[in-house]
Amino acid sequence: MPSSQPIGVFDSGYGGLTVLKSIVEKLPGYDFIYLGDNARAPYGNRSFETVYQYTRESVQWFFSKGCPLVILACNTSSAKALRTIQQQDLASSGTSNRVLGVIRPTTEIAGLLSKTGSVGILATSGTVNSESYTLEIKKFFPEVRVFQQACPLWVPLIENNEHLNPGADYFVQKYVDELLEQSSEIDTVLLACTHYPLLMDKLKKYFPRGIQLVAQGDIVAESLQKYLAHHPEMDARCSKGHQLTFYTTDDNIDFDRHAGYFYGSAVRSERVFL
Ligand code: DGL
Repeated sequence: MPSSQPIGVFDSGYGGLTVLKSIVEKLPGYDFIYLGDNARAPYGNRSFETVYQYTRESVQWFFSKGCPLVILACNTSSAKALRTIQQQDLASSGTSNRVLGVIRPTTEIAGLLSKTGSVGILATSGTVNSESYTLEIKKFFPEVRVFQQACPLWVPLIENNEHLNPGADYFVQKYVDELLEQSSEIDTVLLACTHYPLLMDKLKKYFPRGIQLVAQGDIVAESLQKYLAHHPEMDARCSKGHQLTFYTTDDNIDFDRHAGYFYGSAVRSERVFL
């Protein structure tokens, strides 16, 4: 049995580091393990079955490392795999370990953020096609209108560190315009992909001033803090030794080179084979 019981934070690659950063700021005393499945990223265009299989393997790995709680800090995994993992895998195994995603915390408050009742979603094709955001927002706020825009080229631009170059502007503006063409009422836009906060400056340039752009990191961190307060039995199981460990399924030197952009400070990772 591993000696520490860290909270696991998972992403298909680097993007979840933007969420981890907010979580560590909010809950600095806890132990965390981050896993980026870089060897099999991106997940954004993959089928339900594939995303489910990859995510499930990663969750099992976190459990083998002693994590009682895993956060899927990847919208695509949260959209395509979380429900089956929660309702099928966890339920049938009888484990008291838990897996949470990033869509629920965001959709729970989406309707409160918008004054016009029209919310835009920017996400990967997989997340958009799953309709998870539309369905979840409708559950909490039936009157809210949701407009989605897939942005399939943004993750590759960011992963290749081309997003700040002038050439990236064409594709940033293209998807922004395509979202805004769907409705002139949109006043709130959710960045429903972990990578997109890195585009924040460019997005501000192409969205009109009155539209608020919402990144998920702080929302997810706050929701996790509330979850632990409401579940003292889980909180007691999460170890609090200020340990932060990074793993990747691909080359760790390469991971460390890129990860700093997302995490905001230097990262030293280890390679793992799932
Ligand atoms: N992390 C994924 C998400 O939030 C984006 C990257 C990918 O496509 O794997 O949807």
